[in-house]
Amino acid sequence: LRKLPLFEQLSEEEIAEIASLLVIKEYDKGSNLFWEKEEGNELYIIQSGAVKIYRQEEGREIILTVFHAHDYFGEMALFGDQSVRSASASTLDKTKVFILRRVHFLELLQKKPDIFIKILNTTLERLRKANELIADLAFNSANSRVARLLFRLSEEQTGQYVIPLKLTHHQIADMTATTRETVTKILSDMQNRGIIQIIRKQITITDPEELKACASLE
Ligand code: CMP
Repeated sequence: LRKLPLFEQLSEEEIAEIASLLVIKEYDKGSNLFWEKEEGNELYIIQSGAVKIYRQEEGREIILTVFHAHDYFGEMALFGDQSVRSASASTLDKTKVFILRRVHFLELLQKKPDIFIKILNTTLERLRKANELIADLAFNSANSRVARLLFRLSEEQTGQYVIPLKLTHHQIADMTATTRETVTKILSDMQNRGIIQIIRKQITITDPEELKACASLE
């Protein structure tokens, strides 16, 4: 628990108190945690794994974001009068979460204004990213959206940029508001041009400069 940015300033006793309130749950890959518009009373903190936050309409899906270890979500339904989920959540991997119930979460925020401010900062950061996504959808081509997504998801591993998740073309399409066919075409074009390498669904960025050009020049 100490590793979680949300709780890093708490004392040993406070951590112990929170630990007694948290429930740990483990989910298989592809499990639904909750649905959009459903009533929600719990905050989720990821211990390990990955969770996608998405909206669905008429069989199409848009992934708003992907959360990883130490991220939290589900706080929106816990504030104010609106207690419904603003989006659905499901696991992209085997995932372990800590779950905190609304009453305990709200009590914690009252006792610890530092945590309240942290949550506000995270919310603002997420709003900035959501604005970026809106602008990206409005102004940029599918090609540049896929390039930007690859940058966003990449992590540096021994000097190379690697996408740590194995994603299907369908999932990438859902994250960039395009079709699976378009993603397949864009990725194979990038691969032919030596910009990326795909081995067993694992994507490595082999030419970051050229990918940057794809991301902004289109
Ligand atoms: P809640 O509305 O309870 O359930 C869905 C959760 O996903 C929401 O709380 C937030 O924690 C998170 N969420 C919703 N929309 C976004 C977004 N645009 N960016 C990041 N996180 C989001």
